[in-house]
Amino acid sequence: MRTIYLITAFVAVLTVSLLGLRGRRFVQPPVDVFPEWAFPGMKYQPKLTQQTASPFFADGRSDRAPPPGTVPASYGPAGQALRNDGFLYAGKAPDGSWARGFPRALKVDMALLERGRDRFTIYCAPCHGALGDGNGVMRAYGMGATASYHDERLRKMAEGEIFNTITSGKGQMNPYGDKLAPADRWAVVAYVRALQRARTGVVGDVPDHHKGELEVQ
Ligand code: HEC
Repeated sequence: MRTIYLITAFVAVLTVSLLGLRGRRFVQPPVDVFPEWAFPGMKYQPKLTQQTASPFFADGRSDRAPPPGTVPASYGPAGQALRNDGFLYAGKAPDGSWARGFPRALKVDMALLERGRDRFTIYCAPCHGALGDGNGVMRAYGMGATASYHDERLRKMAEGEIFNTITSGKGQMNPYGDKLAPADRWAVVAYVRALQRARTGVVGDVPDHHKGELEVQ
């Protein structure tokens, strides 16, 4: 019996709250839980908001101009933009297409590949797997759609586009631009290329003095 009363009361409250006051215009300000007279200065504080007028400063603006000679942290000592290298920072060629190869500012050597392997193992291998085939540990947790780097499309993809995927993410993949500096992203791209190359390796790729180490099957 009690339940029926409760349900009736609930339905009544629900009906009134959904339909009861429809169409009525309120002109009173909403109830102020912390009124100014009881808590002066708590909610309504004198402050300057951006790009508004303010009588506080002589020029009547709330914004202050930076002192002469100030340059943003992203600018070099002579005031030149540091991030004006579209290849290095965005993976773009001058014509706006995805750049192929690696930015000239970076030397693609063993040290870069080692760095790439290090970052890849931390940031990419959980999903993409140590071999880049998409069989990372995350597969066991239901992330089944991880791309394999050994797909034809990804093998042919420009380095700049892979760089951009790392920077901005794609589909279910999160962006890593906030975790990997641009040079590290390129190091990872180089390592991805190494993984792809390794998958298509043939005996002829092995230097003669290492041939003896091959296990013949
Ligand atoms: C949380 C899991 C996860 C991590 C970590 C991850 N990826 Fe991915 N990645 C994915 C998934 C899922 C896709 C497929 C996205 C899609 O096509 O919707 C993908 C796609 C890609 C692609 C193909 C993009 C395309 O155009 O199809 C590349 C390249 C790639 N990832 C590189 C990386 C690199 C490099 C890292 C490390 C910096 C990384 N991923 C880290 C899950 C991940």
